[in-house]
Amino acid sequence: MRGTLCLAALSATISSVRAAHQGFNYGAFFTDNTPKTQADFEAEFKTAQNLVGAPGGGFNSARLYTMLQWGTATDVTAAIPAAIATNTTLLLGLWCSAGDAIVTNELTALATAIATAIATHGTNFTDLVVGISVGSEDLYRASATGQAHLAGAGVADPAVLVAYIQRVRDAIKGTALAGTPVGHVDTWTEWVDRPAAASQAVIDAVDWVGMDAYSYWQSMVPNAAGRGRGLFEDALEKTRAAVGGKPVWVTETGFPVSGLASNEAVPSVENAKRFWDEVGCLLLFGKVDVWWYILRDAGRGTPVPSFGIVGGDLGTTPVFDISCKGVEEEDEESCEAD
Ligand SMILES: *[C@@H]1O[C@H](CO)[C@@H](O)[C@H](O)[C@H]1NC(C)=O
Ligand SMILES: *[C@@H]1O[C@H](CO)[C@@H](O)[C@H](O)[C@H]1NC(C)=O
Repeated sequence: MRGTLCLAALSATISSVRAAHQGFNYGAFFTDNTPKTQADFEAEFKTAQNLVGAPGGGFNSARLYTMLQWGTATDVTAAIPAAIATNTTLLLGLWCSAGDAIVTNELTALATAIATAIATHGTNFTDLVVGISVGSEDLYRASATGQAHLAGAGVADPAVLVAYIQRVRDAIKGTALAGTPVGHVDTWTEWVDRPAAASQAVIDAVDWVGMDAYSYWQSMVPNAAGRGRGLFEDALEKTRAAVGGKPVWVTETGFPVSGLASNEAVPSVENAKRFWDEVGCLLLFGKVDVWWYILRDAGRGTPVPSFGIVGGDLGTTPVFDISCKGVEEEDEESCEAD
């Protein structure tokens, strides 16, 4: 009886808001650094849409890291025509950690995409764009932790990101993408742990906050697979509390299927499924905007660690059961607050 009441209350909450976006992250190149073509992106988007047992509304959204076709100066990423061809929604991204000249190239590609895709495809393009992310983990890579992990170049000064965000707002102003929500993606600790005065400028500048959270990488705390859900919930709650009511989108999370241990977190198919079930199924799918990491990262070479839920051959049967069937809260008390 109580179960029935809980379900009724839950569906009332869900139907009062738009359906949550649900998709994957898509890199611009394969593990061997060769660029993905339009055909490659289309194959990945179609695989995501046809995954056996996909929960929620299925996986029909793509988060991109760059507007640029890999290996070119200013060409628009082939992911855009691929998304139009497959009816895949887009969280567009601009890479912001490679200096001002590259950001200018990113903005050139954004302007080209707006001009050409809108001219050719009209609302078939603009209707697919759910957001634009200005940067990805830039603050994290520039932080002491990021530098200690040799994470690569970042952006140390939040004011630089704020200026990039303004340039993107200027670029879409007066175009068919003018209403697109603009955000920034960073590691959850950057939203939570930075001195308020530093991250606040970025928080104030965005329409939404993108949060990347991986218990796997939290090697400084006990992070065995069984703690994945608790660590994720803690990250999400703290991020929401830190950003003053701005919507929080889960732009990256996942658990490796193979690779080396990170403190207590041991990559395996079994542990990746546990994280999928306890974080994806119970907390995110159908409820929170999420772009999982990742559909496939094993094309043309397997990275270490590897997070892909399908192998290099892009079969539609994932390496574990993603259906969420039989995945339930152990604690029935969770509905009693209604
Ligand atoms: C595209 O997908 C949306 C749901 O995401 C659906 O409502 C719409 O009808 C689809 N359009 C086409 C042309 O298939
Ligand atoms: C938009 O998509 C629909 C459905 O696929 C198609 O019939 C129509 O021609 C497209 N419009 C443009 C401008 O490409």
